[in-house]
Amino acid sequence: MAQSDGTSHEMVEIRVVPVTRANRGLVASLQLAPEQIDFVASNADSLDEARSDRDARPRAVMAGDCVVGFLMYEAPRDDDEARIYRFMIDRSSQGKGYGKAALREVLGEIRGLGHVRHVSICYEPENEAARQLYRTAGFVEEGLDEDGEMIAELVLAAPSGR
Ligand SMILES: CC(C)(COP(=O)(O)OP(=O)(O)OC[C@H]1O[C@@H](n2cnc3c(N)ncnc32)[C@H](O)[C@@H]1OP(=O)(O)O)[C@@H](O)C(=O)NCCC(=O)NCCS
Repeated sequence: MAQSDGTSHEMVEIRVVPVTRANRGLVASLQLAPEQIDFVASNADSLDEARSDRDARPRAVMAGDCVVGFLMYEAPRDDDEARIYRFMIDRSSQGKGYGKAALREVLGEIRGLGHVRHVSICYEPENEAARQLYRTAGFVEEGLDEDGEMIAELVLAAPSGR
């Protein structure tokens, strides 16, 4: 469990939990600012997509008891790379350190799977908030993919003793 940090941020426990029937509606109702809508697919569409993709791991971001965000990743067992391909914090909860804490949490979850050595993430090149968030977490930009999205990658530290 991570806590949102930063001296100006209130301390709230941030957890990343599976999307279930119970929290699905709340996840689908999360909103972005109008200028952010093109940065990521809608949560409702992502949850529909996850239904037919066995590798998709949709997660709700919880701040205390409140659903404040959503992310989705895949980490197939036959691959040493995980891919985080959806990440959002509700517009009313942004700028409080929740995104940073949620990223830390999901990277911990991915590391705990045991078979992943690197994690990739992608975002629109003009998405400065995403760039800063991922850079701070150690992601290194690799360049644009064929769709013009920036790909960044993080090499996970090997577990101690291996
Ligand atoms: C990107 C996003 C997830 C960040 O979530 P957040 O909870 O607001 O982020 P945090 O408050 O934890 O901030 C983490 C870091 O991100 C960066 N950041 C956040 N908002 C920023 C902004 N408006 N401009 C520049 N950097 C910003 C900062 O580096 C910040 O660290 P700092 O506070 O120590 O400087 C959120 O802005 C969002 O949902 N955006 C729309 C969807 C999106 O773009 N998703 C990513 C692409 S899939």
